[in-house]
Amino acid sequence: MSAIVLDGLHKHYGPVHALKGVSLAVEEGEFFGLLGPNGAGKSTLINILAGLTRRDTGRALVLGHDVAREYRVTRRLLGVVPQELVFDPFFSVREVLRIQAGYFGLGRENDAWIDELLEALKLTDKAQANLRTLSGGMKRRVMIAQALVHKPRVVVLDEPTAGVDVELRQSLWDFIRRLHREGHTIVLTTHYLEEAEALCGRIAILNQGELVALDEKQALLAHGIGRSRRLCVTTRAPVVALPEALKPRLRRQEGNRLEFELVRETDSAVAVLDALRSHGAEVVDFATEAADLEDVFVELTRRRPS
Ligand SMILES: Nc1ncnc2c1ncn2[C@@H]1O[C@H](COP(=O)(O)OP(=O)(O)OP(=O)(O)O)[C@@H](O)[C@H]1O
Ligand SMILES: [Mg+2]
Repeated sequence: MSAIVLDGLHKHYGPVHALKGVSLAVEEGEFFGLLGPNGAGKSTLINILAGLTRRDTGRALVLGHDVAREYRVTRRLLGVVPQELVFDPFFSVREVLRIQAGYFGLGRENDAWIDELLEALKLTDKAQANLRTLSGGMKRRVMIAQALVHKPRVVVLDEPTAGVDVELRQSLWDFIRRLHREGHTIVLTTHYLEEAEALCGRIAILNQGELVALDEKQALLAHGIGRSRRLCVTTRAPVVALPEALKPRLRRQEGNRLEFELVRETDSAVAVLDALRSHGAEVVDFATEAADLEDVFVELTRRRPS
Protein backbone atom coordinates (compact mmCIF):
# COMPACT_ATOMS: atom_id res chain seq x y z
CA MET A 1 0.00 0.00 0.00
CA SER A 2 1.18 3.54 -0.70
CA ALA A 3 2.16 5.58 2.34
CA ILE A 4 0.89 8.73 0.68
CA VAL A 5 -1.29 9.27 -2.35
CA LEU A 6 -2.02 12.70 -3.73
CA ASP A 7 -4.47 12.79 -6.57
CA GLY A 8 -5.19 15.95 -8.50
CA LEU A 9 -4.75 18.27 -5.55
CA HIS A 10 -5.76 21.88 -6.09
CA LYS A 11 -5.48 24.70 -3.61
CA HIS A 12 -6.18 28.41 -3.96
CA TYR A 13 -5.49 31.12 -1.44
CA GLY A 14 -7.70 33.84 -2.84
CA PRO A 15 -6.23 34.60 -6.25
CA VAL A 16 -3.09 32.52 -5.63
CA HIS A 17 -3.24 29.08 -7.22
CA ALA A 18 -0.80 27.37 -4.84
CA LEU A 19 -1.34 23.78 -6.05
CA LYS A 20 -2.35 23.15 -9.64
CA GLY A 21 -3.39 19.54 -9.70
CA VAL A 22 -0.56 17.69 -7.99
CA SER A 23 -0.59 13.89 -8.19
CA LEU A 24 2.05 11.59 -6.77
CA ALA A 25 2.45 8.51 -4.63
CA VAL A 26 5.03 7.71 -1.99
CA GLU A 27 5.42 4.02 -1.26
CA GLU A 28 5.83 2.61 2.22
CA GLY A 29 9.44 2.56 3.31
CA GLU A 30 10.58 5.26 0.92
CA PHE A 31 12.83 8.18 1.83
CA PHE A 32 11.25 10.79 -0.36
CA GLY A 33 12.51 14.30 -1.05
CA LEU A 34 10.25 17.23 -1.92
CA LEU A 35 12.16 20.16 -3.32
CA GLY A 36 11.25 23.44 -4.93
CA PRO A 37 11.91 27.17 -4.73
CA ASN A 38 10.20 29.48 -2.23
CA GLY A 39 6.48 29.60 -2.82
CA ALA A 40 6.42 26.39 -4.89
CA GLY A 41 3.65 24.92 -2.74
CA LYS A 42 5.61 22.42 -0.63
CA SER A 43 4.25 23.55 2.71
CA THR A 44 0.75 23.84 1.31
CA LEU A 45 0.96 20.23 0.20
CA ILE A 46 2.29 19.12 3.59
CA ASN A 47 -0.27 21.15 5.51
CA ILE A 48 -3.05 19.50 3.52
CA LEU A 49 -1.62 16.10 4.46
CA ALA A 50 -1.43 17.17 8.08
CA GLY A 51 -5.04 18.34 8.04
CA LEU A 52 -3.95 21.92 8.78
CA THR A 53 -5.08 23.28 5.42
CA ARG A 54 -8.12 22.30 3.37
CA ARG A 55 -7.71 21.32 -0.23
CA ASP A 56 -10.09 22.71 -2.86
CA THR A 57 -10.36 19.54 -4.93
CA GLY A 58 -8.49 16.27 -5.30
CA ARG A 59 -7.64 13.61 -2.77
CA ALA A 60 -4.92 13.12 -0.17
CA LEU A 61 -4.55 9.70 1.43
CA VAL A 62 -2.26 8.42 4.16
CA LEU A 63 -1.95 4.62 4.12
CA GLY A 64 -5.24 4.49 2.28
CA HIS A 65 -7.13 6.85 4.59
CA ASP A 66 -8.49 10.20 3.46
CA VAL A 67 -6.93 13.04 5.45
CA ALA A 68 -10.11 15.10 5.47
CA ARG A 69 -12.69 12.39 6.06
CA GLU A 70 -10.65 10.19 8.39
CA TYR A 71 -8.65 12.83 10.18
CA ARG A 72 -8.41 10.94 13.45
CA VAL A 73 -6.94 7.91 11.74
CA THR A 74 -4.46 9.76 9.56
CA ARG A 75 -3.31 11.93 12.45
CA ARG A 76 -2.14 8.81 14.22
CA LEU A 77 -0.40 7.39 11.19
CA LEU A 78 1.35 10.62 10.38
CA GLY A 79 3.92 12.73 12.18
CA VAL A 80 4.39 16.16 10.68
CA VAL A 81 7.06 18.67 11.56
CA PRO A 82 5.68 21.97 10.25
CA GLN A 83 7.89 24.69 8.87
CA GLU A 84 6.49 27.34 11.19
CA LEU A 85 7.51 27.18 14.81
CA VAL A 86 4.46 26.95 17.02
CA PHE A 87 4.88 26.19 20.67
CA ASP A 88 3.39 26.66 24.07
CA PRO A 89 5.81 28.72 26.12
CA PHE A 90 4.47 27.68 29.51
CA PHE A 91 5.50 24.04 29.51
CA SER A 92 8.83 22.33 29.80
CA VAL A 93 10.18 20.22 26.97
CA ARG A 94 9.28 16.96 28.69
CA GLU A 95 5.80 18.21 29.59
CA VAL A 96 5.11 19.20 26.00
CA LEU A 97 6.10 15.73 24.82
CA ARG A 98 4.01 14.00 27.48
CA ILE A 99 0.98 16.14 26.66
CA GLN A 100 1.40 15.38 22.98
CA ALA A 101 1.66 11.66 23.74
CA GLY A 102 -1.49 11.99 25.81
CA TYR A 103 -3.43 13.13 22.73
CA PHE A 104 -2.74 9.71 21.32
CA GLY A 105 -3.74 7.91 24.49
CA LEU A 106 -0.14 7.18 25.43
CA GLY A 107 0.94 7.45 29.04
CA ARG A 108 3.98 6.59 31.12
CA GLU A 109 4.72 3.52 28.99
CA ASN A 110 5.86 5.97 26.34
CA ASP A 111 8.42 7.69 28.58
CA ALA A 112 11.31 5.50 27.48
CA TRP A 113 10.69 6.55 23.89
CA ILE A 114 10.52 10.21 24.97
CA ASP A 115 13.90 9.77 26.67
CA GLU A 116 15.27 8.29 23.49
CA LEU A 117 13.95 11.19 21.44
CA LEU A 118 15.45 13.69 23.86
CA GLU A 119 18.78 11.91 23.66
CA ALA A 120 18.81 11.63 19.88
CA LEU A 121 17.86 15.27 19.46
CA LYS A 122 20.37 16.39 22.09
CA LEU A 123 17.67 17.83 24.32
CA THR A 124 18.26 15.71 27.41
CA ASP A 125 19.74 18.55 29.44
CA LYS A 126 16.90 20.84 28.35
CA ALA A 127 14.15 18.42 29.37
CA GLN A 128 13.09 20.58 32.33
CA ALA A 129 13.53 23.91 30.57
CA ASN A 130 10.52 25.98 29.58
CA LEU A 131 10.08 26.28 25.86
CA ARG A 132 10.24 30.07 25.92
CA THR A 133 13.81 29.88 27.22
CA LEU A 134 15.06 27.79 24.28
CA SER A 135 16.81 29.07 21.18
CA GLY A 136 15.17 28.81 17.76
CA GLY A 137 17.18 25.74 16.78
CA MET A 138 16.30 24.03 20.05
CA LYS A 139 12.60 24.80 19.61
CA ARG A 140 12.76 23.22 16.18
CA ARG A 141 14.25 20.09 17.72
CA VAL A 142 11.40 19.99 20.23
CA MET A 143 8.94 20.19 17.36
CA ILE A 144 10.65 17.26 15.71
CA ALA A 145 10.42 15.25 18.92
CA GLN A 146 6.76 16.25 19.21
CA ALA A 147 5.98 14.96 15.73
CA LEU A 148 7.62 11.63 16.53
CA VAL A 149 6.24 11.10 20.01
CA HIS A 150 3.66 8.54 18.88
CA LYS A 151 6.08 6.70 16.54
CA PRO A 152 4.07 7.48 13.41
CA ARG A 153 4.52 5.15 10.44
CA VAL A 154 4.82 8.08 8.06
CA VAL A 155 7.03 11.01 8.99
CA VAL A 156 6.84 14.28 7.08
CA LEU A 157 9.43 16.96 7.79
CA ASP A 158 9.06 20.44 6.36
CA GLU A 159 12.58 21.89 6.34
CA PRO A 160 13.57 20.33 9.65
CA THR A 161 17.14 21.55 9.43
CA ALA A 162 16.45 25.21 8.65
CA GLY A 163 18.29 27.22 11.28
CA VAL A 164 19.89 24.15 12.81
CA ASP A 165 23.66 24.16 13.21
CA VAL A 166 25.91 21.84 11.24
CA GLU A 167 26.70 19.45 14.06
CA LEU A 168 23.11 18.92 15.01
CA ARG A 169 22.07 18.66 11.39
CA GLN A 170 24.39 15.69 11.13
CA SER A 171 22.95 13.95 14.19
CA LEU A 172 19.45 14.75 12.99
CA TRP A 173 20.22 13.08 9.69
CA ASP A 174 21.53 10.03 11.53
CA PHE A 175 18.38 9.86 13.58
CA ILE A 176 16.06 10.22 10.60
CA ARG A 177 18.10 7.58 8.77
CA ARG A 178 17.58 5.26 11.72
CA LEU A 179 13.83 5.79 11.64
CA HIS A 180 13.91 5.00 7.96
CA ARG A 181 15.91 1.81 8.54
CA GLU A 182 13.37 0.79 11.15
CA GLY A 183 10.66 0.93 8.52
CA HIS A 184 9.22 4.44 8.77
CA THR A 185 8.36 6.22 5.55
CA ILE A 186 10.07 9.59 5.41
CA VAL A 187 9.14 12.64 3.38
CA LEU A 188 11.53 15.54 3.64
CA THR A 189 11.46 19.03 2.20
CA THR A 190 14.68 20.94 2.19
CA HIS A 191 16.48 23.77 0.49
CA TYR A 192 19.80 22.02 0.86
CA LEU A 193 20.59 20.02 -2.23
CA GLU A 194 23.29 18.06 -0.46
CA GLU A 195 20.77 17.03 2.16
CA ALA A 196 18.39 15.61 -0.41
CA GLU A 197 21.32 14.01 -2.15
CA ALA A 198 22.61 12.36 0.99
CA LEU A 199 19.29 11.09 2.28
CA CYS A 200 16.58 10.64 -0.32
CA GLY A 201 15.84 7.85 -2.75
CA ARG A 202 13.29 9.54 -4.98
CA ILE A 203 12.96 13.27 -5.33
CA ALA A 204 10.00 15.33 -6.51
CA ILE A 205 10.44 18.91 -7.62
CA LEU A 206 7.59 21.32 -7.31
CA ASN A 207 7.54 24.67 -9.05
CA GLN A 208 4.70 27.21 -8.96
CA GLY A 209 2.26 24.60 -7.75
CA GLU A 210 3.14 22.00 -10.36
CA LEU A 211 5.19 18.86 -10.25
CA VAL A 212 8.04 19.43 -12.70
CA ALA A 213 10.15 16.36 -11.94
CA LEU A 214 9.84 13.10 -10.06
CA ASP A 215 12.56 10.54 -10.28
CA GLU A 216 15.23 8.51 -8.55
CA LYS A 217 17.90 10.76 -7.14
CA GLN A 218 20.56 9.26 -9.44
CA ALA A 219 18.45 9.91 -12.51
CA LEU A 220 17.90 13.52 -11.53
CA LEU A 221 21.56 14.02 -10.78
CA ALA A 222 22.50 12.46 -14.09
CA HIS A 223 20.10 14.94 -15.67
CA GLY A 224 22.31 17.74 -14.63
CA ILE A 225 21.74 18.57 -10.98
CA GLY A 226 25.07 19.75 -9.67
CA ARG A 227 26.85 19.07 -12.93
CA SER A 228 26.57 22.45 -14.55
CA ARG A 229 28.18 25.70 -13.56
CA ARG A 230 27.71 29.31 -14.40
CA LEU A 231 30.08 31.64 -16.19
CA CYS A 232 29.41 35.34 -15.73
CA VAL A 233 31.17 37.62 -18.18
CA THR A 234 31.32 41.40 -18.22
CA THR A 235 32.25 43.05 -21.50
CA ARG A 236 33.27 46.67 -22.13
CA ALA A 237 30.28 47.31 -24.36
CA PRO A 238 26.99 45.41 -24.64
CA VAL A 239 27.27 42.42 -26.96
CA VAL A 240 24.76 42.84 -29.77
CA ALA A 241 25.29 39.65 -31.75
CA LEU A 242 26.41 36.57 -29.94
CA PRO A 243 28.50 33.89 -31.67
CA GLU A 244 26.14 31.16 -32.88
CA ALA A 245 27.96 28.46 -30.90
CA LEU A 246 27.34 30.26 -27.60
CA LYS A 247 23.63 30.91 -28.02
CA PRO A 248 22.47 27.60 -26.55
CA ARG A 249 24.60 28.26 -23.47
CA LEU A 250 23.30 31.75 -22.74
CA ARG A 251 21.15 31.89 -19.66
CA ARG A 252 20.75 35.60 -19.15
CA GLN A 253 21.89 38.84 -20.74
CA GLU A 254 21.63 42.25 -19.13
CA GLY A 255 23.49 45.02 -20.95
CA ASN A 256 27.13 44.09 -20.93
CA ARG A 257 26.69 41.29 -18.44
CA LEU A 258 26.31 37.79 -19.88
CA GLU A 259 25.55 34.64 -17.95
CA PHE A 260 26.29 31.24 -19.47
CA GLU A 261 25.48 27.80 -18.23
CA LEU A 262 28.21 25.29 -18.87
CA VAL A 263 28.13 21.51 -18.61
CA ARG A 264 31.07 20.52 -16.48
CA GLU A 265 32.44 17.70 -18.59
CA THR A 266 32.09 19.16 -22.04
CA ASP A 267 32.22 22.96 -21.92
CA SER A 268 35.24 25.05 -21.24
CA ALA A 269 35.06 28.57 -19.85
CA VAL A 270 38.20 29.47 -21.78
CA ALA A 271 36.55 28.43 -25.06
CA VAL A 272 33.59 30.71 -24.30
CA LEU A 273 35.87 33.64 -23.53
CA ASP A 274 37.87 32.98 -26.71
CA ALA A 275 34.74 32.83 -28.83
CA LEU A 276 33.55 36.15 -27.38
CA ARG A 277 36.91 37.79 -27.95
CA SER A 278 37.23 36.59 -31.52
CA HIS A 279 33.74 38.01 -32.08
CA GLY A 280 35.00 41.42 -31.12
CA ALA A 281 33.70 41.53 -27.54
CA GLU A 282 36.18 42.90 -25.03
CA VAL A 283 35.96 40.92 -21.81
CA VAL A 284 36.73 43.03 -18.75
CA ASP A 285 35.81 40.55 -16.06
CA PHE A 286 34.52 37.03 -15.58
CA ALA A 287 33.71 34.58 -12.80
CA THR A 288 32.50 31.01 -12.61
CA GLU A 289 30.34 29.50 -9.93
CA ALA A 290 28.76 26.14 -9.23
CA ALA A 291 25.14 25.71 -10.17
CA ASP A 292 22.80 25.71 -7.21
CA LEU A 293 19.34 24.34 -6.69
CA GLU A 294 17.88 27.50 -8.17
CA ASP A 295 19.60 26.69 -11.47
CA VAL A 296 18.19 23.21 -11.37
CA PHE A 297 14.67 24.56 -10.89
CA VAL A 298 15.13 27.00 -13.74
CA GLU A 299 16.51 24.25 -15.92
CA LEU A 300 13.73 21.80 -15.13
CA THR A 301 11.01 24.37 -15.59
CA ARG A 302 12.46 25.31 -18.96
CA ARG A 303 12.75 21.71 -20.05
CA ARG A 304 9.26 20.73 -19.03
CA PRO A 305 7.13 19.90 -22.05
CA SER A 306 4.07 22.12 -22.15
N1 LIG B 1 -2.09 31.05 4.40
C1 LIG B 1 -1.83 31.54 3.19
N2 LIG B 1 -2.55 32.58 2.71
C2 LIG B 1 -2.32 33.08 1.48
N3 LIG B 1 -1.37 32.62 0.64
C3 LIG B 1 -0.62 31.60 1.05
C4 LIG B 1 -0.80 31.01 2.35
N4 LIG B 1 0.09 30.01 2.49
C5 LIG B 1 0.80 29.98 1.34
N5 LIG B 1 0.37 30.92 0.47
C6 LIG B 1 0.88 31.14 -0.90
O1 LIG B 1 0.86 29.89 -1.58
C7 LIG B 1 2.02 29.71 -2.35
C8 LIG B 1 2.76 28.46 -1.91
O2 LIG B 1 3.28 28.66 -0.61
P1 LIG B 1 3.98 27.52 0.22
O3 LIG B 1 4.18 28.02 1.60
O4 LIG B 1 3.23 26.25 0.06
O5 LIG B 1 5.39 27.39 -0.54
P2 LIG B 1 6.71 26.56 -0.15
O6 LIG B 1 7.06 25.76 -1.32
O7 LIG B 1 6.52 25.88 1.14
O8 LIG B 1 7.79 27.74 0.00
P3 LIG B 1 9.05 27.87 1.02
O9 LIG B 1 10.19 27.17 0.36
O10 LIG B 1 9.27 29.35 1.07
O11 LIG B 1 8.68 27.30 2.34
C9 LIG B 1 2.82 30.99 -2.21
O12 LIG B 1 2.50 31.83 -3.29
C10 LIG B 1 2.32 31.58 -0.92
O13 LIG B 1 2.43 32.98 -0.92
MG1 LIG C 1 7.45 25.96 2.92
